[in-house]
Amino acid sequence: MLSAPSVPIVRATLATVGASLDAITELFYRRLFEEHPDLLRNLFNRTNQAGGTQRRALAGAVAAFATVLVERPGERPDAVLGRIAHKHASLGVTADQYTVVGRHLMGAVADVLGDAVTPEVAAAWDEVYWLMANALIALEARLYAGARVDDGQVWREMEIAERTEESVDAASFVLRRPDGLPTEPFAPGQYVGVQVELPDGARQIRQYSLSAAPGHKTWRITVKRERSADGSLPEGEVSTWLHTHARPGHVLRVSLPFGDLVLPRDDSPLLLASAGIGITPLLSMLDHLGDVSPNRPVTVVHADRSPAHPAHRHEQAELAERLPHSPVHVWYEAGAGDVGESRVHLHEGRADLGGLTLPRDTTAYLCGPLPFMRAVRGDLLARGLSPAAVHYEVFGPDLWLGN
Ligand SMILES: Cc1cc2nc3c(=O)[nH]c(=O)nc-3n(C[C@H](O)[C@H](O)[C@H](O)COP(=O)(O)OP(=O)(O)OC[C@H]3O[C@@H](n4cnc5c(N)ncnc54)[C@H](O)[C@@H]3O)c2cc1C
Ligand code: HEM
Repeated sequence: MLSAPSVPIVRATLATVGASLDAITELFYRRLFEEHPDLLRNLFNRTNQAGGTQRRALAGAVAAFATVLVERPGERPDAVLGRIAHKHASLGVTADQYTVVGRHLMGAVADVLGDAVTPEVAAAWDEVYWLMANALIALEARLYAGARVDDGQVWREMEIAERTEESVDAASFVLRRPDGLPTEPFAPGQYVGVQVELPDGARQIRQYSLSAAPGHKTWRITVKRERSADGSLPEGEVSTWLHTHARPGHVLRVSLPFGDLVLPRDDSPLLLASAGIGITPLLSMLDHLGDVSPNRPVTVVHADRSPAHPAHRHEQAELAERLPHSPVHVWYEAGAGDVGESRVHLHEGRADLGGLTLPRDTTAYLCGPLPFMRAVRGDLLARGLSPAAVHYEVFGPDLWLGN
């Protein structure tokens, strides 16, 4: 909780700080990386930095947190931090790194806002930062303890056991421990970090959802090769590296699994709605549900550009066969065609849930591009689902937080 003297100061300056957050976070990252270039090369995603998305996610999180502190003090402000803590844990962020981040962030606030930052204003915002930082440090400590590792010690070597081309632009990699022991447990929906050394020596990290159920001796990830649609931007760094170089026998640096998109503990009906490569975490859930609760009603929705693209389409249909109350609806933007699976309802155009029967107590899981998820979430809320029953994963910095 914010101290009594700080509440009116933060409330009075929230709009000013909020309006300058873009400039503040831009200056913050510039200074942070000037002083610690290794952080940009080997920890942060440098493409997100170039595109400004990470900056906007950080600004959105700070604004959301400060707003909860002053406007809705009865609410637990750390509710907005769960996703960030999981992301940090998958990267191995440590408690001591919060001091350097705090110094640069508060320095950027003072420099961007100039005279508006009196010592009282600086102290009040420092308090906001440390409330956030301490909440994150505590959440991350719990995640590290749950994974039975010391602060930040999440990185492992994993050997590629198999590689399979799943579609024109996606390949899956089965990973095993080099010592032959079973892989660490995870919850379906979670992801790992993969760090690869690029030609310029930078060791960049990206996250990949585990795309098969837990309980095997291996993990599987499925990687879509990212290319810029019109060729005007560079190819995706890590996905291109993996598609070009990663072969069975190679050893990759992989983090332990984290992620807060996990199935509810109850037995409510489920909707698993994915688009494109967003199928991966939901495929793991579907695989797991077939193992543990085959009678659960699960509606599966998938959208893709054309029948040439979808990775794991046939696998998804086969997994759904194990759940007798599990219709599968697939939308292709172009050319629905006939792929011959009896349980699959094929549609042409963009996904439209209007015609589907969904129980009111459905819990929904969405993964795909933001426009897809916004449209599906809108459909679900219009049908009476509560916002708390709609969960989602974004394959990049979460720009929904600030909305
Ligand atoms: C929780 C989570 C789970 C994920 N799960 C999966 C998964 O299961 N499978 C999967 O394939 N991916 C997944 N992702 C996405 C994955 O982590 C990577 O983001 C993806 O592989 C692209 O990484 P890259 O290094 O290849 O591309 P990047 O180098 O990060 O580039 C990404 C895109 O940005 C474009 N770009 C390049 N430069 C710029 C610039 N200056 N400005 C703007 N755009 C630019 C590139 O052309 C490319 O299209 C997941 C992400 C998250 C956060
Ligand atoms: C109070 C302090 C902090 C806040 C509010 C914060 C906030 C965030 C947010 C909102 C994201 C994006 C999450 C997502 O949606 O994917 C993120 C990611 C990240 N954070 Fe933090 N963070 C803090 C401290 C730190 C520290 C101390 C480090 C370590 C130096 C760090 C390193 C990272 C990295 C590497 C990412 C991923 C970046 C990317 O993939 O582009 N953060 N953080």
